[in-house]
Amino acid sequence: MSPEKPSILVTGGAGYIGSHAVLALKQAGYDVVILDNLVYGHRELVEKVLQVELIVGDTGDRPLLDDLFKTRKFEAVMHFSAYAYVGESVTDPAKYYRNNVVGTLTLLEAMLAASINKFVFSSTCATYGVPDILPIPENHPQDPINPYGASKLMVERILSDFDVAYGLKSVRFRYFNAAGANPDGLLGEDHNPETHLIPLILLTALGKRESISIFGTDYDTPDGTCIRDYIHVNDLADAHILGLEYLLKGGDSEVFNLGNGSGFSVREVIAAAETVTELSIPIKECDRRPGDPPVLIGSGEKAKTILGWQPQYPSIQDIVSHAWQWHQKRHQ
Ligand SMILES: NC(=O)c1ccc[n+]([C@@H]2O[C@H](COP(=O)([O-])OP(=O)(O)OC[C@H]3O[C@@H](n4cnc5c(N)ncnc54)[C@H](O)[C@@H]3O)[C@@H](O)[C@H]2O)c1
Repeated sequence: MSPEKPSILVTGGAGYIGSHAVLALKQAGYDVVILDNLVYGHRELVEKVLQVELIVGDTGDRPLLDDLFKTRKFEAVMHFSAYAYVGESVTDPAKYYRNNVVGTLTLLEAMLAASINKFVFSSTCATYGVPDILPIPENHPQDPINPYGASKLMVERILSDFDVAYGLKSVRFRYFNAAGANPDGLLGEDHNPETHLIPLILLTALGKRESISIFGTDYDTPDGTCIRDYIHVNDLADAHILGLEYLLKGGDSEVFNLGNGSGFSVREVIAAAETVTELSIPIKECDRRPGDPPVLIGSGEKAKTILGWQPQYPSIQDIVSHAWQWHQKRHQ
């Protein structure tokens, strides 16, 4: 590790996207500490694969944060921790506002008290709601249609206000659909419960589920199913390193979409998985789910121009094939 690289606190680093970012940070020579309450994170992954310090604790625990910031010097915080189940956010919004908004506010206040003023934030395309323009640019109006998206938008607003008032510099990344796995097979997606399309398809291929449900086959799209922009988790991790380095060099607060600018329908993703796995995957056609926009595609041009981000794995075949390698290993 090069001595000049600073220490970074990564909240939610034991989760899916955070763990890939931690590995990328480590490989880039940063000293990394993870703060994760392990509600959804994986201790074994941190201990066996990432091998960085894990503090088991909650972003809403101010005394814990004050102690941590007194004993350790961090140059920046990457904040992945949140609850991210859209459906649950509708039935139990208090849980989402408390964790995603209040927990983040507590973390930000503790950072300011410790004079840490650089923050990389996991926002989401769910802050846009139903888009008027495709691919969605960053200046598209934000009108979330569920409490999860609203909780992320609230934090975005807090970050803008904290920059003006306290000089807190942030990079806000609005991810489209995170997918795939580290190509070396060490890390991958392991949500419980799982709600994301690609792992659900692959769990069906592995015989862990009976069929893959397609919610809505009558959308105004070429094959009637919803279209989404899938972004490889390693490309997200790369963007986080670039965003961090942008802030470390004195960059001003910015917001970036992280998407490939192209979309794949549910049927296209299933077809890609059948090609990759060489298996036939049973489907179940179901009614539309309320609140699913027909098409979500994000322009990543701004991140390319300002950060020099270049996604390495835009192909759905690569995304599914890396996920498949990991799922096979995970469930062998
Ligand atoms: N997965 C996606 O497609 C996607 C898309 C857009 C945005 N995001 C955002 O990216 C981030 C990471 O998503 P993910 O898919 O890796 O989720 P994940 O559930 O795998 O990871 C989140 C981690 O945060 C931890 N955590 C939750 N609340 C915490 C708290 N209060 N204190 C400490 N740790 C806490 C969990 O234990 C978990 O390890 C989230 O903020 C999510 O909203 C994800």
